Amino acid sequence: MSFEFDVITLFPEMFHAVTQHGVTGKANNHSIFQLTTWNPREFTKNKHRTVDDSPYGGGPGMVMLAQPLEDAIVSAKNRQIGAGISAPQVAYLSPQGQQLDHNLVVQLSKLPGLILLCGRYEGIDERLITRHVDMEISIGDYVISGGELAAMVLIDSMVRQMPGTLGDPDSADQDSFVSGLLDFPHYTRPTVYQECKVPEVLLSGHHANINRWRLQQSLGRTWQRRPDLLALKIAQGISKEEEKLLEEFKQSCTAGLKLGTRK
Ligand SMILES: C[S@@+](CC[C@H](N)C(=O)[O-])C[C@H]1O[C@@H](n2cnc3c(N)ncnc32)[C@H](O)[C@@H]1O
Repeated sequence: MSFEFDVITLFPEMFHAVTQHGVTGKANNHSIFQLTTWNPREFTKNKHRTVDDSPYGGGPGMVMLAQPLEDAIVSAKNRQIGAGISAPQVAYLSPQGQQLDHNLVVQLSKLPGLILLCGRYEGIDERLITRHVDMEISIGDYVISGGELAAMVLIDSMVRQMPGTLGDPDSADQDSFVSGLLDFPHYTRPTVYQECKVPEVLLSGHHANINRWRLQQSLGRTWQRRPDLLALKIAQGISKEEEKLLEEFKQSCTAGLKLGTRK
């Protein structure tokens, strides 16, 4: 059964970026997910088909009207119910929402479907949010002009977690955050590029040593770049081997060495 995305958006054509290109385009072709868009403009009841109005209380910008959004959401919910989803969930992409991270992506990708609400202008009439939104999701502490890009970030990250999306299922497991660490560095041909050599161990064909080096690089990078993540990982418990690899990495940094790199 494919994952059902229904997206409420004033710019449906923007979603070709996820339905027609790259990994997500392929997943869409293979029916791993289905994406249906609903344009609130099609649900307006005024002759100019306006979807926004000025804010009560004054101030700059416009606010999205509740009625066209409500009618679009009801249509999306009915479609999802028709597709066998008994309790469709509505997520509003908003800078005020819960910040998206790997755990939330995994949790959401286990649902049968999701209705994504994309705001524009200054935002959406609060009464629509109170009546219909089950969760608010932010892609970070900054403001972008509309919910579409945020929705596409969410869709892409969720689709990567769905079985069958990635050719090699192990590649998702190796990604940053999955094991609580950042990914190790990657190299490809040639073995020497602009006088920089590929770490020798990667050319050795010795898989145990390669895995050990990669784990050490993941631990080391997380220590250098995301000490908050490493602290969490350590609190959850790391093995003696991981402790040793991390210690070795730290010492090599103090000594100014880059582990496994040819000089
Ligand atoms: C210009 S923003 C409105 C921002 C709003 N006035 C505020 O400060 O909270 C328009 C729309 O972009 C989307 N948006 C902006 N920043 C976002 C973020 N960090 N994460 C998710 N959606 C965002 C939301 O859908 C929002 O309704």
